[in-house]
Amino acid sequence: TQQTVKDLYTHLDQLTGTVELTGWVRTIRSSKRVGFIELNDGSSLANAQIVMTSEMANYEELTKLPLSATIQVVGELVATPKAQQPFEIQATAITQVGGSDNDYPLQKKKHSYEYLRTIAHLRPRTNTFYAVFKIRSLAAFAVHQYLQDHDFTYVNTPIITSSDSEGAGEMFQVTTLDMNHLPLDDQGQVDESQDFFKEKTNLTVSGQLPVEAFALAFRNVYTFGPTFRAENSHTSRHASEFWMIEPEMAFADLTDVMAMAEGLLKGVIAYLFDHAQPELAFLNEHVDPELIDRLQLTLDEDFARVPYTKAVELLQAAPVDFKVPVEWGTDLQAEHERYLTEEVYHQPIFLTDYPKEIKAFYMRNNDDGKTVAAADLLVPQIGELIGGSQREERFEQLQQKIKDFGLSEEEYQWYLELRKYGETKEAGFGIGFERLVMYVTGMSNIRDVIPYPRTPGNAEF
Ligand code: 4AD
Ligand code: MG
Repeated sequence: TQQTVKDLYTHLDQLTGTVELTGWVRTIRSSKRVGFIELNDGSSLANAQIVMTSEMANYEELTKLPLSATIQVVGELVATPKAQQPFEIQATAITQVGGSDNDYPLQKKKHSYEYLRTIAHLRPRTNTFYAVFKIRSLAAFAVHQYLQDHDFTYVNTPIITSSDSEGAGEMFQVTTLDMNHLPLDDQGQVDESQDFFKEKTNLTVSGQLPVEAFALAFRNVYTFGPTFRAENSHTSRHASEFWMIEPEMAFADLTDVMAMAEGLLKGVIAYLFDHAQPELAFLNEHVDPELIDRLQLTLDEDFARVPYTKAVELLQAAPVDFKVPVEWGTDLQAEHERYLTEEVYHQPIFLTDYPKEIKAFYMRNNDDGKTVAAADLLVPQIGELIGGSQREERFEQLQQKIKDFGLSEEEYQWYLELRKYGETKEAGFGIGFERLVMYVTGMSNIRDVIPYPRTPGNAEF
């Protein structure tokens, strides 16, 4: 009758007598007559404290166990209400079932995040990364649950694609051609018809356009999958491979986008408050002392909705010098976003109605002729967490925008057909899942919320 450490914590009041656990030695300290092992078995962030005594035949050997050795413990569960841990296990027998080595890289001291990134295969064994990746898993489930509860259908859009959903050209090419012997056509250009798919293909930057087609059949849909961007951004919030959630709604406008995005973010936080209490408490204590307060505030307050034009005015009137000054028509920099969320509003805000030139071609033109019906959610610490918009559903306007953006009408023919056959008001948004995980864990570098991060110059493991 094997138990897990989690079982013991969950059913402490019902458990008495003999228990049996298998796990890894996290810490060990001993004197001549008594020793203590912190045992972790992966079932929870918390360890079980194992007490061993020199009465055990193999006591000497046990005191020399290297960190991360695998052991099986049989012992008596004893409640210790006055101690730091609610119980301990007084071992009657401890058997080593797997070895480790004294040069185990995770010795008992605080390691820097930079160092831990170089051992991405071992860092999930630390408390911090255990908490982060547990929350990552729970947050993914919470996203699915919230959207499914709101009648959204999950759609899997392709990872290899021949179109550029964002029209921004930041794509990783997918090819089976031999770079050293590229086939050339009559004009001396690479002959893509000889490639695997007989045309140029790339990794998807977004599932939005393909999922829009499903919104026009299922009404409310979403994607949740990996996306790839070959943007050479060396920042703490850009990854080359990241996961995105893209809800898309037929018969919806920009107001609906903001309501759904706000509801989803709050729904995820509420779920984590219910299901990730130990992990949040740990991160609040060791990583970001404002984490829980910030999440509670996010849950309690209504997010402000601020037109871009007003944001620019606020920034221009700011009593601080920005490295990059703001002019109407320019994209906001991270320092501007930080000022708005951390100095002015102290909470997540939706910035709406951006100049059309700095936003994607598919966004719906506003009547002013200058702006589009876009809404980005900016959050403290991170900046842009969500990008959304009402889509341009009017055939002629969309056709014109494809032209104005210098995109190929042929490539977007199928997309235009969505407007030709059943023109429908439609809107949606995309959440960067890693940025969401950063927000709900307090981690400040995107490399520390992805199991094996990919960033410019790094595809290790
Ligand atoms: O603002 P973006 O580029 O919007 C889209 O891709 C739309 N198709 C979404 C939609 O309307 N369906 O990206 C959406 C979000 C950003 O707000 C950000 O959180 C995240 O994706 N994101 C990144 N996250 C990590 N690394 C990167 N390089 C990211 N680029 C965007
Ligand atoms: Mg964006």
